[in-house]
Amino acid sequence: MGQKILDIGCCFGQDLRRLALDAGRSDVLFGLEYRSRFVELGLDLFKDRDTFQSSIFSGDVFDESFIESIISSVGRFDVLYVGSLFHLFGVEQQRQLVRILFRLLKSDFLIFGRAYSGDSVDLGGAGFLNGVPSDQLQQMFESASPGPVSCEMALDSYEYKGGGDAFKRFLPQGSKELVFSVRSF
Ligand SMILES: C[S@@+](CC[C@H](N)C(=O)[O-])C[C@H]1O[C@@H](n2cnc3c(N)ncnc32)[C@H](O)[C@@H]1O
Repeated sequence: MGQKILDIGCCFGQDLRRLALDAGRSDVLFGLEYRSRFVELGLDLFKDRDTFQSSIFSGDVFDESFIESIISSVGRFDVLYVGSLFHLFGVEQQRQLVRILFRLLKSDFLIFGRAYSGDSVDLGGAGFLNGVPSDQLQQMFESASPGPVSCEMALDSYEYKGGGDAFKRFLPQGSKELVFSVRSF
């Protein structure tokens, strides 16, 4: 019985599949994604409908009854991955998201993820990036945690990232990505 991992905002499930390859199993890997279409597109893209064993729950992470239904069906998680999600929301929703993360976790846990951390940017019809300052996110985790936590926050450059300039061209010069981990101790 391995530790259970939930990828929140897992999109096509690309990171879950990478993790399944590295770990050699996918039955302890779970995803949560608002757009069920993305989940379907992931199955088409990776052509693994018959072999992919992770469960991806489709719904809104802010919907408390949806969260409770996940906990009722598979229990709480040891590890949460939150990649490029916080910056989609304003400060109050970020605070709410932190509370929901703790709701999903066992008492011994690890949360890790990344978020855009520069000046807020309008993506011209494709949404808005709310810069997530590291001290603000750390304070949210520390104040919402039911027990003592150890937080690590680091600012990384976007320069190393692949994927062409489609996304990077919207970012102000020198924008940073916040990479974070929060663990119980
Ligand atoms: C920017 S993508 C990040 C994808 C991936 N986690 C990564 O790190 O590259 C954000 C994902 O979160 C999903 N999402 C946005 N709002 C959500 C919500 N309220 N509940 C669940 N998923 C949500 C989006 O549909 C999208 O797939």
